[in-house]
Formats: sequence, structure tokens, C-alpha cells
Amino acid sequence: MIDFQVTRLSDALGAEIVGLDLGAAPDSATAARIDALLARHLVLVIREQSLTPAQMLSALSVLGPPVRQHYSQYLAPECPDVGILDSARAERGPDGRRVQLGASCWHSDHINRELPPKCTALHAVKLPGRGGDTSFANMRTAYKNLPEALRAQVETMHSVNGLDRNLIGVRKTDSERFGAPSVHPLVRTHPVTGEPALYFHPGKLDHFEGMSAERSAVFMNELLETILEPAIVYRHCWRPGDLLLCDNRACIHRAHDDYDHDEGRVMYRLLIQGDRPFYRPPTRLAYG
Ligand SMILES: [Fe+2]
Repeated sequence: MIDFQVTRLSDALGAEIVGLDLGAAPDSATAARIDALLARHLVLVIREQSLTPAQMLSALSVLGPPVRQHYSQYLAPECPDVGILDSARAERGPDGRRVQLGASCWHSDHINRELPPKCTALHAVKLPGRGGDTSFANMRTAYKNLPEALRAQVETMHSVNGLDRNLIGVRKTDSERFGAPSVHPLVRTHPVTGEPALYFHPGKLDHFEGMSAERSAVFMNELLETILEPAIVYRHCWRPGDLLLCDNRACIHRAHDDYDHDEGRVMYRLLIQGDRPFYRPPTRLAYG
């Protein structure tokens, strides 16, 4: 097993890994350690990598199979399991500014799939001169902090999800291939740790079962306002070469839209398939 150093990044979540080179695929013991650290810390930042899309795919395939990303215009031509998120190539919105695929709102990636990605990997290839951070919020803590009556309510709720609404430039073939709705519990049990966490993507939410679309949107916004406090958030200021893994099963994220998109902020993105989300009431955990 490769020896590497792990340091916590914040009280909310996250750990930094130094001394691990993903230029070669990790052995199975190292992969198991990374998997366990991801489930515990929810975000892992592996410093000083320099990977091509194919190397990224090869190195991280030890964590699971890739999920094909649904906007095909952003896939690496030579390695289509990896997306290239280049702000200078993003579609332009009505005001003429480039917009990055709804990424600036809090979300968990590709929730509209039957088997959504357990993990998103982002590799910082080119960064803007200023701005362009990504924030991550701990949905385990958010769940624990809910008022008791609201916690009891969300445990019974299910979201019906599709492709993002109001996106520009979505290809018809992608809409047809990935547009089928999927239903997931609003609280999901982590398959590794057994801990519950809130699980949602407001931009992909069509409605909650038993609730109108309009009421669902209001409920979602109110829930976000209730849970999002600085104590559960880690804001990552990228360094070139960072390879960041985030656990989508218990963590949401948003990209800060505060930089010049034409300058070109380039991330390679790989999604790693997880299992079907489920909720099992915790038996050994007690929250005050
Ligand atoms: Fe995302």
C-alpha cells in the first residue's frame, strides 16, 4: 500500500492528501483506503497531480466504473468517460455571459440516474487569475441539525428528478438518452458508514412525490435556507494539479461564478458509479 499523509481541511468536511501520485493506478489496498477516507471526510484533495483524461480514468477506475456524463458536447473526444469543463467553451446565457451548466447552484451530481455517481472527481488543469472556488456542504450534519419535525418529514419524502431545467444547448440525442425521470429518497443512508444524509439537486428536481411542482420548489428552497450555514461548508480554493474527490452520497457542491469565463477555467471531470440510493432508519445513532 502506498503511504501518504492525510490532513483535515476544515471542521465541516474535507481532507488533503499529500504524497500520492495517481500517474499509475493505485493498488487495491490503497484504493480501499481512499474509499474509506472519502466516506469519512466527504471531500479529498489529492495535491500535485498531472493527469491526462485517460490517466485519470485509469487511476480512478479502482474506485468503480465511470458514469457517462449527459451533455456530450463536453466529453473528451479521445476519452469520452471524462468531461472537459472549460468555461471559455461554455454556452452563453441571455445576457451574453458564459454559463457553466447550472453548476453555480447547490447540487449533487447526476441525481437523475437510477445508479447516480457515488463520487465526482475534478482535476484542476487551468485556473482563472482570481475566483472560481468550489464550495462543499456536509449533508450529514445538515440532516442532524434539522428540527425534529422537519427531520421526520424529509425521511418520508422522495424526489422525482430529470435533466436540468432551462439549460441552453442540450443536444436532442442527450435529452432522449438521459431524460427519463428517476425517483430517490430525500434522505439516503450511506452504504459505507450507515449514516443518513440529505440528498437532492434543486435544478433537476421535477417534484416531490405527493406534492405539486410549485410546492416542491418552495419546499426545496426553504429546506436549503434552513440547512445552509457556514459551519457545514468548506470552500475550496483550487491549486493547479489538485485532484478532488467528493462523495455525492452525503455532500453537495456549487461552483462560484465570480470569475472571467472567457479566461478559461478548465477541469477534467469523472463520475464514478455508486449504488441505488436507499434509506434505512438508523438504529444505533441518536441525535439530540
Ligand atoms: Fe456538479
